[in-house]
Amino acid sequence: MKNDKIVIQKTAAAMKRRMNGESTGHDWWHAYRVWQTAKRITATEPTANQLVVELAALLHDIADYKFSKGDHELGPKLAGEWLQDQNVAPAVIESVQVIIRTIDFKGANVAHNLASIEAKIVFDADKLDALGAIGIARAFAYGGAKSRDIHNPDVKPVMHDSFGAYKKNTSPTINHFYEKLLLLKDLMQTKEGRRLAQKRHAYMKRYLEEFLKEWEGER
Ligand code: ADP
Ligand code: NI
Repeated sequence: MKNDKIVIQKTAAAMKRRMNGESTGHDWWHAYRVWQTAKRITATEPTANQLVVELAALLHDIADYKFSKGDHELGPKLAGEWLQDQNVAPAVIESVQVIIRTIDFKGANVAHNLASIEAKIVFDADKLDALGAIGIARAFAYGGAKSRDIHNPDVKPVMHDSFGAYKKNTSPTINHFYEKLLLLKDLMQTKEGRRLAQKRHAYMKRYLEEFLKEWEGER
């Protein structure tokens, strides 16, 4: 247990160094928030392995596909190398790698296959960070980094049927709320994740209503 704490702290420090200054929503503070939320959900899931959850939460975006030229194996590989250096048990490393591989959002109509309770927790914590007040801030930060319009009423949202189509889209940031963010609450995998998502979802809906009214000069 004491060793677990040390490995977690060392991993947090390493990720803080590595993800510093990443400006499109996957900076260290994203990992930090996912870690905090994952711990909160874990407290409601007594069977979950806390070490696996915390390490996977911290490492899940070590090499996001959008910044690693589409290589989905880079994240699990880098995480595995780091954990081996820390002498973490092979079974724990394997579980963490499976989680990193499976939690990416793959489009509105693409199935997500999450076997373990630990994967479900990290998935929920990651998706929760795309919702609510923080989710709104991240969406516009991402859109700005990609030079997208904040909103364009002439471009309608699209429901993507494949991960390829979802990745390729260049639509205005408001559309992202309809193409992804408002769908997340129904993808939640844990009871606590669902509860938190519903609250954040309701907040975003109020925000969008206000935004669209202001757009037309109605507020
Ligand atoms: P995940 O971490 O669930 O795999 P992504 O990496 O796709 O999610 O997205 C990370 C953050 O960037 C999220 O907050 C998400 O809403 C935002 N984001 C991703 N794609 C877009 C987009 N096309 N427009 C605006 N924000 C986006
Ligand atoms: Ni993430």
